[in-house]
Amino acid sequence: MEIFVCKDYDAVSEKAFEVMKDIVANKADAVLGLATGSTPIGLYQNMIKDHKENGTSYAKCQSFNLDEYVGLPRDHRESYYTFMHTNLFSGIDIKEENVHLPYGDTKADCEAYEKAMEHVHVDVQVLGIGANGHIGFNEPGTSFDEETHIVTLTEKTRQDNARFFEGDINQVPTHAITMGIATIMKAKKILLIATGANKADAVAAMIDQAPSTDCPASVLQNHKDVVVILDEEAAAKLNR
Ligand code: F6R
Repeated sequence: MEIFVCKDYDAVSEKAFEVMKDIVANKADAVLGLATGSTPIGLYQNMIKDHKENGTSYAKCQSFNLDEYVGLPRDHRESYYTFMHTNLFSGIDIKEENVHLPYGDTKADCEAYEKAMEHVHVDVQVLGIGANGHIGFNEPGTSFDEETHIVTLTEKTRQDNARFFEGDINQVPTHAITMGIATIMKAKKILLIATGANKADAVAAMIDQAPSTDCPASVLQNHKDVVVILDEEAAAKLNR
């Protein structure tokens, strides 16, 4: 793992953008694994700015998102489909037919997403980390061998995400469809970003403890090309 500790959120977003730009600049048809949540918004803003100012093109890129809530229509304001269009896709020139997000609540829906990814090799997978160590929606206890599957969200994750649903946990879906850890680990490169003091325990477990399903992100120690970009608060509990 290559670990960078930056001053704050903006510096983390800038560093993450450097990694992304290096990939897209060298491979016009790069396959991007993307995440939602608060953490990557700054990265996506930098991508949009760079596209507008420098003409970096995503016209030949494909994207595959990590996850989606079960039970929200795609046009729901808090669906991850809406999030990605609002925060990234509407600001760059990626083609709608090249954009993929998992959707649905059946085994067939999960298999269909794996099938869509069968003939691509993700060049870079962007990840955030949950305060409980989840990556995608792979909650603690998830086997490292899982591919795309339906999950029951933990109370902790639903509480954390209630901020997007008027602070009301009852509005947060109880289930999600997510790439599994085995799916995520197939990416050529992983770019994990984390900011804020509420991530410090999860970040320390990911980096300093032996890989264990107690902290799903710790599986990344077994991947050969991982870049972790942290702000000082998220890095505060690291041993080194
Ligand atoms: C999002 C995802 C989640 C988030 C994580 C952190 O697609 O899969 O694992 O990355 O919950 O979320 P934020 O960035 O909102 O703290």
